[in-house]
Amino acid sequence: MRIAFFGDVVGRSGRQVLSEELPGLREALALDFVVVNAENAAGGFGITEKTAVELFDAGADVLTLGNHSFDQSEALSYIEREPRLLRPVNYPEGTAPGRGSSLYDLPDGRRILVINVMLRLFMEALDDPFRRINEELDACPLGQVADAILVDAHGEATSEKTALGVYCDGRASLVVGTHTHVPTADWRILPGGTAYQTDAGMCGDYDSVIGMDKEEPVNRFVTHMRSSRFSAASGEATACGLFVETDDRTGLAARVEPIRIGGVLSQARPESTN
Ligand SMILES: [Fe+2]
Ligand SMILES: [Fe+2]
Repeated sequence: MRIAFFGDVVGRSGRQVLSEELPGLREALALDFVVVNAENAAGGFGITEKTAVELFDAGADVLTLGNHSFDQSEALSYIEREPRLLRPVNYPEGTAPGRGSSLYDLPDGRRILVINVMLRLFMEALDDPFRRINEELDACPLGQVADAILVDAHGEATSEKTALGVYCDGRASLVVGTHTHVPTADWRILPGGTAYQTDAGMCGDYDSVIGMDKEEPVNRFVTHMRSSRFSAASGEATACGLFVETDDRTGLAARVEPIRIGGVLSQARPESTN
């Protein structure tokens, strides 16, 4: 299965780069399934139906979220009626609306399990992410129930995300980090066959402080005072993500390559050849 994942879409410029680039990439890479983290899609904070539809129209099959899932209150009801939208799976039972994982059918009958999980170091602590992921993977074995399994590990700490990747090695096709908005250079296939990257980076304007206009974040670090609201940077965005090809006999990764298209970062575009 040929899968692309894109990190946190930040505001209009992030949505725009995907609208411009994703249709062409879907075709060039013959993508079977595209997952996009959209926790910052609406002006940098959360998601609305309108911004979600823009990303679905661009070619996203499933949208994942994170600590900003419900910054926009309309997401509380929207997620109840949109099965393609996932929030972290490890909210305590009976708290957040919606779902944190789902098994999706491809038109050709193959199936992919997508799980969004939130880690705990330096973040609001939800239920134990390792325990929840273990339950999810036990309930839906790779290569038996699911032809591919993608885990979006939303977390701040490199160590915790790496540990989760190692913990899932051999049981998921891809464990990819989100939330820091900066792509790491450690994409690889772990020894057990799981593709891994600590953070996919954002789809946003990198001439910024992690997607926000530069002035106010710097001001807050320098003065410890709040002088205005954060606003999403509006310059040309880089679409940051990962391309993974799995072996359909096992569900494990056979190939993993970074994607960085547009904007100020160095460019990376997977070869379209098989
Ligand atoms: Fe984010
Ligand atoms: Fe986040």
